[in-house]
Amino acid sequence: MLVDKYGRTVDYLRISVTQRCNFRCRYCMPTTPFSWMPKENLLTFEELFLFVKVAIDQGVTKIRITGGEPLVRKDLDVFIKMISDYKPDIDLALTTNGFMLRHYAKRLKDAGLKRINMSLDTLDEKKAKFIAQKGILHEVLAGFEAALDAGLKVKLNTVALKGINDNELVSLLEFAKFRGSQIRFIEYMENTHAKDDLKGLKSDEILAIISEKYKITKDEKLPNSPASIYKLEDGYKFGIIDPHKHDFCESCNRIRLSAEGLLIPCLYFEDALSIKDAVSKGDIVVASEILRQVLENKPEKNKWAVGTQNETSSRAFYQTGG
Ligand code: 5AD
Ligand code: SF4
Repeated sequence: MLVDKYGRTVDYLRISVTQRCNFRCRYCMPTTPFSWMPKENLLTFEELFLFVKVAIDQGVTKIRITGGEPLVRKDLDVFIKMISDYKPDIDLALTTNGFMLRHYAKRLKDAGLKRINMSLDTLDEKKAKFIAQKGILHEVLAGFEAALDAGLKVKLNTVALKGINDNELVSLLEFAKFRGSQIRFIEYMENTHAKDDLKGLKSDEILAIISEKYKITKDEKLPNSPASIYKLEDGYKFGIIDPHKHDFCESCNRIRLSAEGLLIPCLYFEDALSIKDAVSKGDIVVASEILRQVLENKPEKNKWAVGTQNETSSRAFYQTGG
């Protein structure tokens, strides 16, 4: 079991397989980065898998594949299958923008993927094009259907933005409910990469909008989950991820691995160590030692939580995997 020095059990590993993305969402990566990390810096799936085995052997029970957009990395299903074959009962999930999902959903499910979190900020084609800076909605909705058809559990993620999709929150909720999928509204997190004219809605504002039509009650929060859960009268549950109000650190159970092999103890924390050397040499002993050290470095609270909330973070989601 992996336990950090504040007594938190770490059993959740998030792996970013690429920083690249085929969208240019205004809140994440509105312009193509001046320099991408060179392709040769990427860990191969074999190298990533070597670390995955170390992490699973030490107690990781949940793995999420993120990016950038993970499906732009070729043969992702092969990597999923490597993990799933090693530990079939692992909770294996993927975060995606859904654009390529139509082509890959079945293959991913067959490879052992269990769950998907997919972005859906709007049901309006023009707005989708405005947000992602590309005509995406048709493919994204087809991807959503393909994932459901393949038997994957799908949660929808919606970043709530003032003047953009605030008049659609109820329709999005109803759409998700109709398709038997949980929706989670995410408070926009300010960062220096994003378009600076964006304004997010806070959780109270999101709840106020939904309350105009539905009676809402607060439900039990799931352990380790950053989402607050709410329930409609008919029992449908939705979530709100509200980093501006909630400090998730106390129950944080996760560590992150970036596409170039940096093992990151905490989202807003720079102290990361590289496993690249170790895994390229197939050195399991050193890889475990680095894992132990990163756990030792895991801070009690993230830097954003300790009073810097008003500073805009220079961290972009596409870099560390959301
Ligand atoms: N604030 C809030 N959510 C964001 N995401 C990306 N950038 C931001 C941001 N600045 C969300 C995406 C996706 C998930 C991986 O992270 O919408 O659903
Ligand atoms: Fe790509 Fe997701 Fe960032 Fe949008 S939010 S640019 S889809 S990584």
